[in-house]
Amino acid sequence: MASRRTTRDFLPIPVPHEILMQILTDSLTAPSWSNTRPFKIAIATGEVRDQISNEFLSRWSVLSAIMRKGIKNKLRLLYSRYGLPTSNRTIVKPYVAELRPRAERVGKELYELCGIKRGDRAARDKQWGKNYTFFGAPVELFIYIHKSLHIYAASDAGLMMQNLMLSAHAHGLGTCAQGAVNIWDDVIRREFNIPKNYRLLCGLAIGYQSNDPVNSFSAHRLDVHEIIVMPKNKTEVE
Ligand SMILES: Cc1cc2nc3c(=O)[nH]c(=O)nc-3n(C[C@H](O)[C@H](O)[C@H](O)COP(=O)(O)O)c2cc1C
Repeated sequence: MASRRTTRDFLPIPVPHEILMQILTDSLTAPSWSNTRPFKIAIATGEVRDQISNEFLSRWSVLSAIMRKGIKNKLRLLYSRYGLPTSNRTIVKPYVAELRPRAERVGKELYELCGIKRGDRAARDKQWGKNYTFFGAPVELFIYIHKSLHIYAASDAGLMMQNLMLSAHAHGLGTCAQGAVNIWDDVIRREFNIPKNYRLLCGLAIGYQSNDPVNSFSAHRLDVHEIIVMPKNKTEVE
């Protein structure tokens, strides 16, 4: 568990089908709300993967360029709509004050490792844009959750994803969970028959890690005391 870290640069080596199926089988050993497993997984490889990636890249180039420019360009984007998020907008909203420092810290440290200066928006966008090539991974999973179970569906999918990522790690593979892909669900639906009562939770890239320094990134870990809520009349955990 402690040695798993997110991979952000993959080798162009395919993942053998049997290994992928084994990892998915392992993922289903996670607990689940009434054993409902309220999720579905679209597996993008080969041509389908490439088509989705190309459309994402095309939309990202429009969206990122326009977000960097002035209000006129933003209005143009609103008019043409191409590149605008078509689904989950959480990732394009600012973090609340309580969580922002944690997100800023990981961003700052990751960009520093990649040699990207704080104010260099173009370089940051380029690095973020790698999400849309799935960081070169040959397999991208799209995880969908049943709308009816709300947060419990997301919780079940999260448990499944962690099992999946640990199994991949044990099989010598790297993974990257990707909220970045959540904004253009329609692109995935073009390629897969996703039922209407399912919504996109996130993507997940799988493949063999390269030796790129980005894969040595070690995100900060919180101290356990930062997540513990104390009883009202106590100051220490017993
Ligand atoms: C649901 C979810 C979505 C994520 N989305 C992205 C993403 O879009 N791009 C990315 O580079 N990392 C993404 N991550 C990876 C996190 O940044 C990473 O897990 C965190 O910084 C801790 O680092 P570690 O996984 O190496 O321990 C995501 C992680 C989760 C759990």
